[in-house]
Amino acid sequence: MSKKILVLHGPNLNMLGTREPTVYGNTTLDSINKELLNLCLTNDIIIDFYQSNAEAELVTKTQQCLNKYDFLIINPAGLTHTSIVWRDAVLAVALPFIEVHLSNIYSREPFRHHSYFSDIAVGTISGLGKNGYKLALSYAIEYLSNKE
Ligand code: DQA
Repeated sequence: MSKKILVLHGPNLNMLGTREPTVYGNTTLDSINKELLNLCLTNDIIIDFYQSNAEAELVTKTQQCLNKYDFLIINPAGLTHTSIVWRDAVLAVALPFIEVHLSNIYSREPFRHHSYFSDIAVGTISGLGKNGYKLALSYAIEYLSNKE
């Protein structure tokens, strides 16, 4: 059976393209998602995407991943630095995930240096722009191909 990956985008990432382009780039969320989808077409992988500005919706969506997805790619956005409840949901479903940030959170304001997700992630990619998502996906595909 095909492996399934869900990409979870946190608050304000729906504004990519117009939102602080010097920090986050000019690419829209839709075009990032399309690039990821294209990478999956050449592999036997099903990929879905979900973005919300609401913490509760992200928690609910994460809970629904149980027995449905094999791997998560998560950009928790501003919730990276605040959300114990989203972290708890990710722990509850016990799915492997990669944390992605477009910007380098460690070269920004001190409050962005702490993440509630990094210590429970397979790995974290920060500062590589949209390429971070592509690298995370390519890792996830290889990871899943080793797990039959
Ligand atoms: C972000 C970094 C966060 O600090 C910020 O709140 C975001 C986006 C990133 O992708 O660089 O919304 O996760």
